Amino acid sequence: MSSNGDTPLLEVVDLKKYFPIKSGLLVDRTVDYVRAVDGVSFSIMEGETLGLVGESGSGKSTTGYCILRLLEPTEGSVRFEGREVTELGREDLRRVRREMQIVFQDPYASLDPRMTVGDIVGEPLVVHGVGTRRDRGARVRELLDVVGFDPTFVNRYPHEFSGGQRQRIGIARALALNPKLIVCDEPVSALDVSIQAQILNLLKDLQDEFGLTYLFIAHDLAVVRAMSDRIAVMNRGELVELGPAEEVYSTPREEYTKALLAAVPVPDPRKMKERKVERRKHRHALAEQEAIVGAPPEVEIERVV
Ligand SMILES: Nc1ncnc2c1ncn2[C@@H]1O[C@H](COP(=O)(O)OP(=O)(O)OP(=O)(O)O)[C@@H](O)[C@H]1O
Ligand SMILES: [Mg+2]
Repeated sequence: MSSNGDTPLLEVVDLKKYFPIKSGLLVDRTVDYVRAVDGVSFSIMEGETLGLVGESGSGKSTTGYCILRLLEPTEGSVRFEGREVTELGREDLRRVRREMQIVFQDPYASLDPRMTVGDIVGEPLVVHGVGTRRDRGARVRELLDVVGFDPTFVNRYPHEFSGGQRQRIGIARALALNPKLIVCDEPVSALDVSIQAQILNLLKDLQDEFGLTYLFIAHDLAVVRAMSDRIAVMNRGELVELGPAEEVYSTPREEYTKALLAAVPVPDPRKMKERKVERRKHRHALAEQEAIVGAPPEVEIERVV
């Protein structure tokens, strides 16, 4: 693990993303906001993996998108290598994007079905004007080789491949510009369980080989634990717990984290029963806790226009 002294590679401070909820037949009025990310702060050192875990809708993807500015943050600061990403103009943002990439959750939806494997992996090189056509061709084959995808299939289309193979294509594309940081947004949750470990191992190997830094998003705490140095737990747009992976996993401090842990499926039926009881206990504790802090009422997404 390499590190540049004490300066984090990425520093997120009080990040917020509110989505307006509109209503009204004649005039669009913003009646409320979905507080998808509501004051999130964390930093990631170079070469480190920070796991970001939380149940569906807790704001994990939105956090990742705001860091890359695929979504514009409502408020807060994102510093990458000491530069304020939220204030960058178009050109500077383009340059910074070379250093920050993303691997999406669903390799079925995120790869353009009309593009060949070679075009998908090489597109970032074209967009950023890297090398000649011939250079790019060689680089694409090298990248495919690195991720364990047979480079002789460059002219095939994504639909010809399984989910695991497709995710390898997505990872090769993310690596194309030699990024420092990769946001892995649930990179294995759409894959067969038997394939998940292979892709996770690949991501680990690539990290060692290229000194990559990961923000690793998942809703499965067991997956996050296997990948991460530290774990941040997200609930309703806020971080409720952040600490060394083993500590968060073995001695969670927050009820929400305990509930997440209890939700991890284990095949042993007796254990399952015990966990079910555990889960119920935690749910009650959570409900009580939320009643005390006055949790916001559930927002109706259907009202979003
Ligand atoms: N473009 C949008 N417009 C309105 N609301 C949105 C938008 N994108 C996300 N949201 C809402 O913001 C909240 C957080 O969503 P987000 O996708 O970040 O959650 P997540 O933790 O990634 O969930 P999952 O595990 O299902 O991927 C949710 O309530 C979601 O419905
Ligand atoms: Mg998500």
